[in-house]
Amino acid sequence: MKPVEISEKIYDVGVIDWNIRDFHGYSTELGTSYNAFLIMDEKVVLIDSVKKDFSDELLRNISRIVDPGKIDMVVSNHTEMDHSGGLPRVMHRIGEGKPVYCSAMGLKNLQKHFAHNLNYQPVKNGETLSIGKRTLTFLETKMLHWPDSMFTYLNEDKILFSSDAFGQHYAGCEAFDDQVDEHLIMLHAKKYFANILLLYAPLILKLVEKVVDMGLEIKMICPDHGILWRKNPNKIIEAYVRWSKQEPEKKAVIIYDTMWHSTQLMAEAIAEGIHEKGVYVKPMKLRDSHRSDVMTEVLDSKAVVVGSPTLNNGLFPTLADFLTYMKGLRPKNKIGAAFGSYGWSGEAVGLIHQQLEGMKFKMIDSGLKHQYVPDSQGLEMCREMGKKIGQAVLDS
Ligand code: FEO
Repeated sequence: MKPVEISEKIYDVGVIDWNIRDFHGYSTELGTSYNAFLIMDEKVVLIDSVKKDFSDELLRNISRIVDPGKIDMVVSNHTEMDHSGGLPRVMHRIGEGKPVYCSAMGLKNLQKHFAHNLNYQPVKNGETLSIGKRTLTFLETKMLHWPDSMFTYLNEDKILFSSDAFGQHYAGCEAFDDQVDEHLIMLHAKKYFANILLLYAPLILKLVEKVVDMGLEIKMICPDHGILWRKNPNKIIEAYVRWSKQEPEKKAVIIYDTMWHSTQLMAEAIAEGIHEKGVYVKPMKLRDSHRSDVMTEVLDSKAVVVGSPTLNNGLFPTLADFLTYMKGLRPKNKIGAAFGSYGWSGEAVGLIHQQLEGMKFKMIDSGLKHQYVPDSQGLEMCREMGKKIGQAVLDS
């Protein structure tokens, strides 16, 4: 499957990780890939490496194009170990004195990852490097999503090597966007954005402005994960702008867990009320939905409704996990509401309310709680709360 010639004398020599299902807490049900790129010019350039365990596979892929010893230089766009873990092994094979171009922060971070010092060559934003008939331009993209992150642009071919940005966790035989189900791949690009990049949304808007101001024409975007964008690179750029603006759609997500089905009954009645107002709603039980899939729904939902039973005077553990996770990603412009069933103390609803308020969600009421099992009157109160949430979404 790899290497793939993505443009004349330019190859994706990366590897496919078919079996990974948990990527530091992010569910990767379709696996992923660690893309790395080989440019055959007067100088032979390798852009990025792969996860340590796949180093030999990367070297084998390179060997199908050129003897790895003939590589003249490496570009490290990002230090995270899914793209740099293989660097020591690769450099050992290609020659440890060869230059490794990286950002200024890349220099510091690579030195802190690998005890053995390599010939790091830090570059500045906008700096160019001739590799023969072609020129590389380095673009600093600090905090997208690490301090060391940068893009590398290949001027003559108008290809942007974008590191993690515009990526998706997808393992497949296909290389390009025109070879896959567009809806599926956009869904995984959205999941990637919601779980990895949302926190940095304001910086993404600035970055896109910077690229527009520079007048960079982009024919192909090559991220380090998943498929490459050649059919319409603007589609993913426009999606990033849309997601970064955080202007949610008129829909709601209900995130909850349950012990003896009472909080679930409440969630379903609230969903009925929201639906009665004509607003799309998706209830998601946390023990059946992965936090990263729930976060994908949060990204473009206007209302985020959260429910938990009270356990040991606190939140149910899956809710504590999710609220901590969501807080870190800093979603904006949300309507919030809290609910839950309890036995004798009932602190969970108040705790959820407090946390959502802390995230600057516009809260509906002070929360709805029911002792033990909600009766028909209790469920009607839930439906009424749902209608109120639905109306608030319509009015937003
Ligand atoms: Fe794919 Fe931030 O590493």
